[in-house]
Amino acid sequence: MSGTIRVDVSLGDRSYPVLVGAGARRELAPILRDTVVTGGARRAAVVTQAGIGLEVDPGIPFETFTIPDGEHAKELGTIGELCSEFARMGLTRRDVVVGVGGGVVTDVAGFAAAVYHRGVAVVHVATTLLGQIDAAVGGKTGVNLAEGKNLVGAFWQPAAVLCDTEVLDTLPERELRAGLGELAKYHFIGGSAAEHWLSSTGKNDLSALPIDERVAACVAIKAEVVSSDETEGGRRALLNYGHTLAHALEIAERFDLRHGEAVAIGLRYAALVARMMGRIDDQRVAEHELVLEAYGLDTALPPGVDHDEIIELFGRDKKATDGITFVLDGPNGLEMVPNVDPSVLRSALERM
Ligand code: GLY
Repeated sequence: MSGTIRVDVSLGDRSYPVLVGAGARRELAPILRDTVVTGGARRAAVVTQAGIGLEVDPGIPFETFTIPDGEHAKELGTIGELCSEFARMGLTRRDVVVGVGGGVVTDVAGFAAAVYHRGVAVVHVATTLLGQIDAAVGGKTGVNLAEGKNLVGAFWQPAAVLCDTEVLDTLPERELRAGLGELAKYHFIGGSAAEHWLSSTGKNDLSALPIDERVAACVAIKAEVVSSDETEGGRRALLNYGHTLAHALEIAERFDLRHGEAVAIGLRYAALVARMMGRIDDQRVAEHELVLEAYGLDTALPPGVDHDEIIELFGRDKKATDGITFVLDGPNGLEMVPNVDPSVLRSALERM
């Protein structure tokens, strides 16, 4: 595994490695042979999308199942079809599901693995920046309903995640930018993993790290959060920094925004809300803007945003339990803040 950085997600007997580096996909065969199932996995069901175009070698007999391209694949019908394919193939608990793709694939493959035979092992080969630093790590799996995104799912930790940074070179620019929006949030999450990573590399900022180390640092930050709160009873919700406005823009559906692009806008907005609530000062807002600018991310609201509609959509967050809840920066770092005053949210939209 020379040249590959290993980050562990520590969850007792469900702990697993995330391997990051150029060519990390080639670790799939040894991982499946040595670690995923006691005695080695016998067969693999590889789940991917046609648009991914990445071939992997599981090193054991396998069949490939291609789900439709795009976010539309994230629906219960896809899970039913995949599970039927697994049954036709005769997949058992001695076998393994391998998700090869971005967040849509790893969410779908992970959820199918969670429910088929009440749970079979899954390994993810994450092919997008967003997948590598977020979606593939941490065990959140699921699909959308007409009523909202990610409303049906399961926590199902992978047995390993491979983040091959070589494949990032071939990502379309926009896909990469979408990943950078999600990456920017890690600048503000903090915690001991972030401090450790930066002090061990002698850098004071994630953006100063080479890509392998930057991906690994984000994975380490996420791993630390997930290890401390696997099922989002508290701290894990901080990983949704910048996501409340992002989700509202996405639910509105008429804006041409990738998830990470919406998160970039949401990060600046969350900083402005925190500023208006007196939680942070102008300098901290400027730090947010500098990070987003350094990654070349656009933070303006898209034309045609209706402020009333956005406030209404904040209130419709199906997972919210205490009024409009935001992850906001403050003197103690990021915190969940319930019942944010809608008049502050409106003023911050105007400031955008
Ligand atoms: N993407 C947020 C989380 O995994 O909790």
